[in-house]
Amino acid sequence: MSSNPAPEGPVLRRSHCHLWLLAAIAFSLAYAVLRYNVLKGVEWEHFPLYIVNKATSLSAVILLASSYLVGRWIKVFEDDPEKRLVLVKFLGLGGFALAALHAVMSLTLLSPDYYPKFFAETKMNLTGEITMLFGVLGLFWMASPALSSLPNMQPALGKRLWLRSQRIGYLALSMTGIHLFAMGFKGWLTPNEWPGGMPPITMVGFAVVVLPLAAKLITKERARPAGD
Ligand code: HEM
Repeated sequence: MSSNPAPEGPVLRRSHCHLWLLAAIAFSLAYAVLRYNVLKGVEWEHFPLYIVNKATSLSAVILLASSYLVGRWIKVFEDDPEKRLVLVKFLGLGGFALAALHAVMSLTLLSPDYYPKFFAETKMNLTGEITMLFGVLGLFWMASPALSSLPNMQPALGKRLWLRSQRIGYLALSMTGIHLFAMGFKGWLTPNEWPGGMPPITMVGFAVVVLPLAAKLITKERARPAGD
């Protein structure tokens, strides 16, 4: 999520961070309602948990990916690293909180009636087990950069260990990518069945997750000496 200790005091207006949060939630909620309630005909009684859960998971992915893209591909506060750091931390911790909320919501919904593709009769099938495994692993590994972003963690861990714990976020993003691929891949291949031509949230989420991983690879490649 970042490589410096938290600055003291409010260096960035809270409203700026909240704008990112609001934008991610508004986009995700609008997408989920339009695709599933309006175009696919999911009943409105499933809005409070089933649809809000979809929006929560997509906003989580957007915030987490943005946290790793700010400074790399999203150029904000280029001349003010202190402000950029506050934003990066906010996005990372906000994304982690929403991902945890999504996990709890999903577990309350988990049943063959809501998610028939995860079940064979009453037990989970292979798709369900792989999807759940990588969801849980994604959340587990996300805790590492989130916890080490808390105040005083950098001096407590030492620079090397702290940096490593931040980079584990890329592993968490990869696990999330597998979580999405396992549950959604089949639906990605049938665009003629997408309501209103809108791609499934699994596909949108996967595309978002791939961006910071690609940015990391490209930056690493550029940093490598010529002829290496
Ligand atoms: C304990 C951990 C997790 C569990 C039990 C879990 C469970 C689920 C379930 C059941 C779905 C299907 C939802 C649906 O189709 O309506 C889902 C979808 C999804 N999950 Fe997770 N998940 C976990 C972790 C994560 C994490 C860490 C992320 C990353 C932020 C994430 C992102 C997503 C996204 C973007 C979707 C697609 C939503 C959709 O297609 O509607 N999940 N997850």
